[in-house]
Amino acid sequence: MAELVRVHLEGPVAVLTLNRPEKLNALSGAVEEALAAAIGSEDVSSSASVVIAGSGRAFSAGADVHEMRAQSVAAILEYYRTTGGLYDRVAAIRQPTIAAIHGYCLGGGFELALACDFRIADATAVFGLPEVAIGIVPSSGGLTRLVRAVGPVRAKELMLLRDRFDAEEALGFGLVTTVVPEGSAEARAIEMGAELAQLPPLAVEVAKLAADAAADSSREASLLIERLAYAALAQTEDHAEATSAFEEKRDPTFGGR
Ligand code: COA
Repeated sequence: MAELVRVHLEGPVAVLTLNRPEKLNALSGAVEEALAAAIGSEDVSSSASVVIAGSGRAFSAGADVHEMRAQSVAAILEYYRTTGGLYDRVAAIRQPTIAAIHGYCLGGGFELALACDFRIADATAVFGLPEVAIGIVPSSGGLTRLVRAVGPVRAKELMLLRDRFDAEEALGFGLVTTVVPEGSAEARAIEMGAELAQLPPLAVEVAKLAADAAADSSREASLLIERLAYAALAQTEDHAEATSAFEEKRDPTFGGR
């Protein structure tokens, strides 16, 4: 049987490809398990950045509707203890993450994309949150991430009033970083991943952690986080290397120390 999630390296970039094209990469428990295993793979741990993409004609059409029949409270809690915890694991990947989106990016697929740091959409991308229409809500961290990203008013609009929206609209909402021509989202995401790989990795990791923590903190706590982050990073060899390289008019070489 074909792997449900393929992993390969493109230079410093790990590319994870959802590989259930015949079901538009619907996120069954088995796909979630495969994605969790991919996140734990050697290719991901050795990479400088991570791209998540979909095979076939979609990024992902969301949670597997066939596995969504009314479930008991105990079964739902069990789900979040097991494969449903995946979306937070994606958000916690230490390297920068980029969702490369084409075609449908619906429901849980959209939640997966929201768990990434950046989203690149091609002109065919179709976003939507069908959950409310089927009597539930986005609950894999997506509702919370959407509110953090666009505020509660727009989040309610997208959940309740918009059946679908396209890449240009998503760009206007600040949900995607860039829109690219049809068929080039993955290539652009890999290019962006390679650009991110040029940066000093400790500063990238701390900037990502601090930005996520700042969004959930008081102003005072957030200021403290950024000052402590600076105090820690100012001690690194990479910071010293960057300042020396600047003075010596050469390109820096970073070692992640
Ligand atoms: N879960 C399980 N299977 C899904 C799926 C999902 N979320 N989305 C698509 N599929 C399957 C279809 O059942 C179909 O399988 P089949 O060929 O065995 O019948 C296959 O993927 C292709 O989908 P199809 O519906 O034929 O493609 P389409 O282009 O006509 O329609 C969608 C695409 C996305 C509009 C439609 O598939 C859809 O509405 N999917 C459900 C979206 C959804 O509600 N997602 C999450 C809710 S939280």
